[in-house]
Amino acid sequence: MRSRPAPPAEHAAPAGDRHPLDPGLAQHYLDSLLAYMGGLVARRRVEPTGDLLSAMVRARDDNVDRLTEQELVTLAAGLLAAGHETTVTQIPNMVYVLLTTPGAGDTLRDRPELVPVAVEELMRFIPLGATAAFPRYATEDVELGGVLVRAGEPAVVNIAAANRDDTVFTDADRLDLTRQVNPHLGFGHGVHHCVGAQLARMELRVVLETLLDRAPGLRLAVPVEEPTWKSGLLVRGLVAMPVAW
Ligand code: HEM
Repeated sequence: MRSRPAPPAEHAAPAGDRHPLDPGLAQHYLDSLLAYMGGLVARRRVEPTGDLLSAMVRARDDNVDRLTEQELVTLAAGLLAAGHETTVTQIPNMVYVLLTTPGAGDTLRDRPELVPVAVEELMRFIPLGATAAFPRYATEDVELGGVLVRAGEPAVVNIAAANRDDTVFTDADRLDLTRQVNPHLGFGHGVHHCVGAQLARMELRVVLETLLDRAPGLRLAVPVEEPTWKSGLLVRGLVAMPVAW
């Protein structure tokens, strides 16, 4: 977005980014984002470019049954939010774990070719979702872990717990940057598997490789317990992490 519209005065920003947003302020930001996306969609409709948004507009306009206008705008805003907030949060989360786990940074500095494998392990090890957010509704009666979920009932999946499942991962609570067998669920599973997973993997690899190359001496500039964490949001991440190099 080019600029963020000022919130109405009655929704003054809460003190400190650690606090969840005031619901009115959150709604205001959501409305602003959807208005911005609606404008962008209108622009692409008149002047298409080679980008994804133009292709989505075309998909809607060529066959109006496939996507309503509201779905198009919401999907575009969803892609932006899902593609931005996740990666910008997971990058510092990964750096924090690397800087605070004895030997982890040295392993990657000595063997930078491990970065792609390390990214998968960091995705497994670090819970990005602050909670189990999205319910799944059973379309038929199904037994899960000895519990009967009836058709129409929700089941809530905790990805972070699944990623530390001892029956799937050897030494599940240990960060192993050389782990070869790693069927983690960090990008979800099934029909809703993250559509941006390959892009995210590429971003995470490039960031770690670049940091190792340009700032091999990177270290926390404050005691390990000092960085502060956001709360009340879907994703779990740092408010601030002072570093030195
Ligand atoms: C570290 C980065 C990322 C993580 C950890 C992540 C994680 C996830 C997870 C766990 C899901 C599944 C949610 C569910 O089960 O309902 C998901 C879905 C999704 N992700 Fe990502 N994601 C990341 C980056 C991205 C990027 C870069 C994009 C887009 C450019 C993106 C777009 C989406 C979208 C649109 C969905 C919904 C897919 C659907 O419901 O069919 N994500 N992501």
